[in-house]
Amino acid sequence: MALENGELYKELLDSQAHIWNHIFSFINSMTLKCAIELQIPDIIHRHGSPILLSELVEALGLKQERTYFVYRLMRILVHSGFFVKQSGGYLLAHTSRLLLKDEPLSVRPFLLAILDPMILDPWKHMTKWFQSDDLTPFATTHGRMLWDLASHEPRLNDFFNEAMASDARLVTSIILKHCRGVFEGLDSIVDVGGGTGTVAKAIVEGFPEIKCTCFDLPHVINGLVGSKNLSYVGGDMFQAIPSAHVVLLKWILHDWSDEECMKILKRCKEAIPSKENGGKLIIIDMVVKVHEGDNELLETQLFFDMLMMTLTKGRERNEDDWAKLFNDVGFSNYKITPILRLRSLIEVYP
Ligand SMILES: C[S@@+](CC[C@H](N)C(=O)[O-])C[C@H]1O[C@@H](n2cnc3c(N)ncnc32)[C@H](O)[C@@H]1O
Repeated sequence: MALENGELYKELLDSQAHIWNHIFSFINSMTLKCAIELQIPDIIHRHGSPILLSELVEALGLKQERTYFVYRLMRILVHSGFFVKQSGGYLLAHTSRLLLKDEPLSVRPFLLAILDPMILDPWKHMTKWFQSDDLTPFATTHGRMLWDLASHEPRLNDFFNEAMASDARLVTSIILKHCRGVFEGLDSIVDVGGGTGTVAKAIVEGFPEIKCTCFDLPHVINGLVGSKNLSYVGGDMFQAIPSAHVVLLKWILHDWSDEECMKILKRCKEAIPSKENGGKLIIIDMVVKVHEGDNELLETQLFFDMLMMTLTKGRERNEDDWAKLFNDVGFSNYKITPILRLRSLIEVYP
């Protein structure tokens, strides 16, 4: 590589800076995780006014000698926009409200799940997986597929279900308010892969006339008790899905290959009435590139696609991919509402 030319010299250093930035990207996630585990956002929130470094160290219960290290942790998190410096102290930035432990819409359980060693370790084995016949890097690492291991490892099952429930709280808070029309006039919904029932509970609360079934694998719903309009059913969506006016699939199809999605979608079609009788699917999942030109959103969608590759046999799909799937299973049409920024609500008609 020639270095005499000034232009090339600058290019060389720009390349080095770009590579370094990527080498160290994991520090963004790891410092954020550390701050969450130390409960720094909660301490700052409780303090109510800008908290001085010395007050923060004391509230953290750390030795005074740790002060300069806490300062450096806070410096990078101020830089990445999670905290702001004001009057010599720290305050929460607007985004950090979602990191609080007691915030009902907190993303904390999701963050702690995705950055748990059980979910992180497969990334270390991606190369080995490429060179093997294993189904996923997760299986290369743990010897089993994700849902199979979750049925044997209560800790994984619990933190995964809690992560899903936290996301479900945020999503339902938006769609049940801003997409009410999607649910109006329905008498029954089955939430396929509905986890521990967060979405189903919110639907029956918001629409007392709808009967809702939360359908998931037996180890997920074991011991959960329904109510007047809410029931839990254990089973395998590849075998059969309980009948309902509408089938809801939130964050399900991105976990599976196209062939598997076709099987699930066929079972869904069997479970609902015709279009004339109001049958439809409601899918909540990503439509890649739905917000053309927003680079950060696209990057996050591509991160998710890689997450699906690491943990499951699934992938994130663009509109053409979705249209092909629906068409191949014999659905007549669909409507995408990109209401959830990274994800969309897709209504699919038989
Ligand atoms: C990514 S989670 C989504 C959970 C929930 N829908 C949400 O978004 O909060 C996928 C769910 O599918 C469930 N699942 C996996 N395989 C299944 C199967 N064969 N039959 C029924 N549910 C299944 C998992 O147990 C898990 O709860």
